[in-house]
Amino acid sequence: MERTDHVVIGSGIAGLSYALKAARHARVTVLTKRDRQEANTRYAQGGIAAVWHPADSLDAHEEDTFVAGAGLCDAEAVRITVAEGPDRVRELIELGVEFSRNEEGEYDLGMEGGHSGRRILHAGDITGSEIQRALVSAASNHPNITIHDHLLAVNLITRSSVAGQPVDDDRAIGVYALEEATGIVHRFLGQVVVLATGGFGKVYLYTSNPDVATGDGHAMALRAGARMGNMEFVQFHPTCLYHPHAKSFLISEALRGEGGRLRRADGTAFMQQYHPLKDLAPRDIVARAIDKELKESGDDSVFLDMTHLDRPFVEERFPNIHARCLQLGIDMVEQPIPVVPAAHYACGGVVVDEHGCSSIPGLYAIGEVTCTGLHGANRLASNSLLEACVYAHRAAAHAKTFIEDNDEPEEPATAWNSQNARNPEELVMVTHNWEEIRRLMWNYVGIVRSTKRLIRARARIDLVIQEIHQYYWDFTITRDLIELRNIALVAKCIIESALLRRESRGLHYTLDYPETNEALRKPTILTRADLGL
Ligand code: FAD
Ligand code: SIN
Repeated sequence: MERTDHVVIGSGIAGLSYALKAARHARVTVLTKRDRQEANTRYAQGGIAAVWHPADSLDAHEEDTFVAGAGLCDAEAVRITVAEGPDRVRELIELGVEFSRNEEGEYDLGMEGGHSGRRILHAGDITGSEIQRALVSAASNHPNITIHDHLLAVNLITRSSVAGQPVDDDRAIGVYALEEATGIVHRFLGQVVVLATGGFGKVYLYTSNPDVATGDGHAMALRAGARMGNMEFVQFHPTCLYHPHAKSFLISEALRGEGGRLRRADGTAFMQQYHPLKDLAPRDIVARAIDKELKESGDDSVFLDMTHLDRPFVEERFPNIHARCLQLGIDMVEQPIPVVPAAHYACGGVVVDEHGCSSIPGLYAIGEVTCTGLHGANRLASNSLLEACVYAHRAAAHAKTFIEDNDEPEEPATAWNSQNARNPEELVMVTHNWEEIRRLMWNYVGIVRSTKRLIRARARIDLVIQEIHQYYWDFTITRDLIELRNIALVAKCIIESALLRRESRGLHYTLDYPETNEALRKPTILTRADLGL
């Protein structure tokens, strides 16, 4: 058992930004389920949106965020994020993040869909890896921060979970975490617990996300009784590379910001048929347009044409995408890139207030695992790295006060009751159910939905959850089993949220209610009781 002040789960931009702030006053323990570098953050390409250029304005960034969010953004969350964003970006620069500059030595500002002007700071097309490098280096060298790699958080420890029943003074006091190499489940107790576990792209068959994105934080929070918001709003990125060996490699929206055009196999451009902003329309519109084109043509992909740009510019601005495409035999300067949509970003998550506080005292949530209200029904491109920094800063400040104002919890959280038996059937069950969930979510709860498909998805996920439940409690837990249990619960939560939204808005499009209904303009909130847990 380890006692610390702040237990942070996750080592992406949210977790490490928080850790660096909290460590100024206290001890911080960071748990991360793979190597500390591994996170969605590392794969971010386009950049981080912030009002930087003198010709830009906070009002314009707010307005673009509201338009993308399709009427569901929380005005205060938008105001906070946009206003505090530039200071947080300056802190990243002070930490050593090297954003790209133009020939005059000024920061080069990129353009992406839904933005009314250039406001995206980037490091070529590997912005996330540059940010992650700087954060990991600073956190790894900080005397007050201990990072445990390869420790998978399994369940939150709360006063209610210790008591075995809901208690009035519930509070998060720690987490159980599996050390994969030994199979030992450790207890980490803290004065506050911070979920910074990122998204859940792996719930879907095709995703831009790395393997760590299994919605563990969403699932842990749900099981602990936290309120979840807007889980139906799953963002599909319109352009992931279509290639058997590419594993949904992202083709950044910044390419369309530099004039890229989406074309059918016969070379005709089509986005002018769908939106006045054409290829730079909000993501939900572009993804749905591609989905429709593919269904109508029966083709495997559409194509992103960048051949109007010259080679030196492409190699300088998009070195990673250019190199990856070349490796796969696609020279993007000479030929259009085959692309398809894939699950990309979770707009919904643990409901938090303006300080990152969840509905459970002592439990903070920051980054992609949250629903701050910033994104509403659809996230504006490059607003998520920004949101993670802004809320990490606010949560760290609030947690300091929380710790000063509250006694250290003294509950003797019980040790994990490990089962020793391994079941030879487990691997088959895990592989089969993992595949089934991801396929059913793609087919029935994807870009275009219907009530019939959602009800069918619900019936199947309920059966899968029952089967997993039996294995989970009877046998030794493994990473595969824990992640499977989590994606199943997250899938259930997405399906139930989607069924509750009887309109089409932003990322949620259903054939049964194709119009937006202003009377239904409010967030979807669920708790474990709504899911029958
Ligand atoms: P993450 O960076 O995903 O970090 C989560 C951490 O939690 C990881 O370390 C993970 O290992 C750990 N973890 C998860 N579960 C557990 C567990 N059970 N136990 C222990 N540790 C756990 N956004 C932008 O704003 N601009 C972009 O240009 C951009 N491009 C993107 C490109 C790609 C390909 C992808 C996938 C996303 C992109 N996004 C972009 C979205 C953005 O990268 C993420 O929203 C953001 O990085 C999330 O940060 P985070 O810290 O919340 O989560
Ligand atoms: C991209 O580069 O297209 C991703 C940007 C984002 O998801 O915000």
